[in-house]
Amino acid sequence: MVSKELESAINKQINAEFWSAYLYLSMSAHFAHEGLPGFANWFNVQFREEQDHALKQMNYLNSKGNRVELTPIEKVDTKWDSVLHAFEETLKHEKIVTSLINNLISVARRENDFATENMLQWFVNEQVEEEETAQGMIDSLKLIGNNGFGLYTMDKELAQRSYVPLTGEQAS
Ligand code: FEO
Repeated sequence: MVSKELESAINKQINAEFWSAYLYLSMSAHFAHEGLPGFANWFNVQFREEQDHALKQMNYLNSKGNRVELTPIEKVDTKWDSVLHAFEETLKHEKIVTSLINNLISVARRENDFATENMLQWFVNEQVEEEETAQGMIDSLKLIGNNGFGLYTMDKELAQRSYVPLTGEQAS
């Protein structure tokens, strides 16, 4: 079992992952409405990945004999001025998630809970990727600027992204 303090902290993280999923689902709906199906697809894949993050942490708590406690998910925004704005919000949010994961690891280390630290290490690597991807999108969108054809081309590219579920050890 993990300690009560860690159990509570991981449950809070599960809520944060579902909030992330909710945020990206809202972005997906917004861009579908704006006639940008590729961006809508990209955020829909992101939504599904965030659900996997929450499920991975739920599976971990269950595997340790702890309790999962699902709590209400806070409201998210429903509109963004531009795709650049949405990706800037994405990067800002992912940086917050990175700090939450780092704080969780600090608690696990203080308690010498190496199994939990090991589980969280997957998220450390994932966050590096998440921040890098969001920054890459911001860089591309700044290059594109107000060029409608550039945005159209990027939308076509992002339509190709497909969801890859976590399997085996990755999922647990
Ligand atoms: Fe699960 Fe994008 O943090």
